[in-house]
Amino acid sequence: MVLLPSELKANQSDRRVVVVFDVLRATTTIAAALETGVEQILIFPDVESVRRAKLEYPGALSCGEQNCYRPEGFDLGNSPGDLGPAQVGKTLLMSTTNGTKAILAAKGAARILTGALVNARAAAKEVRQSSMDVTLLCAGTNGKLAMEDVIGAGALIGCLGDSVELESDAAIIARELSQSAAKDLASVLRLGEGGRNLIRAELEGDIEFAARRDVFTAVGEVEQGEPIRIVRAGSRISLQ
Ligand code: MLT
Repeated sequence: MVLLPSELKANQSDRRVVVVFDVLRATTTIAAALETGVEQILIFPDVESVRRAKLEYPGALSCGEQNCYRPEGFDLGNSPGDLGPAQVGKTLLMSTTNGTKAILAAKGAARILTGALVNARAAAKEVRQSSMDVTLLCAGTNGKLAMEDVIGAGALIGCLGDSVELESDAAIIARELSQSAAKDLASVLRLGEGGRNLIRAELEGDIEFAARRDVFTAVGEVEQGEPIRIVRAGSRISLQ
């Protein structure tokens, strides 16, 4: 378990599955997008790169946030509840302050998944099916630990039950915190910096959305390339 992308070491990603958590809101939005039927999400390091990519992918929709808000000229912000039938089959071009950067930081991993509270059980199932060791990577908020990401990671650990050996105290803390927050996840998520930022931006509905456990079965999986793209795990079909 790694609490910030800057702390991720090569031996925590090489030959391992890395599951990235940015519960408020990037990985919740990715889960919602894939559940809705978005075809793929291309990940970019900053909003300027998204603006340039929009010229290359004319049918695609730009999405993400800067200081919680939809960047100027973007088609969508980072609110998971805004995704619906209009986005089915679409490509999203995404950049956010923390979540997409955490996904990019995991680039060296054998497999990269994205997890959240809304799909913790489904993400745990993907992890269980993989025969590799696992690193849970929290995106944090502006370089600082984010409680909601720890809770999201703890939810996945809880779903794995006794079948896993927890290598770090951080993983044990995550599991225990997730259990104690389970009674009222939305209230706990409101307490952290990420939650307070969203309340200040009048986006409290996104906290309610993100605090729902296991409402989705879609899990994001990174396909390496330039740019990297996220598709629904299990949706790849190889034919020779
Ligand atoms: C991020 O990736 O930085 C977050 O999702 C922030 C947000 O959505 O407000």
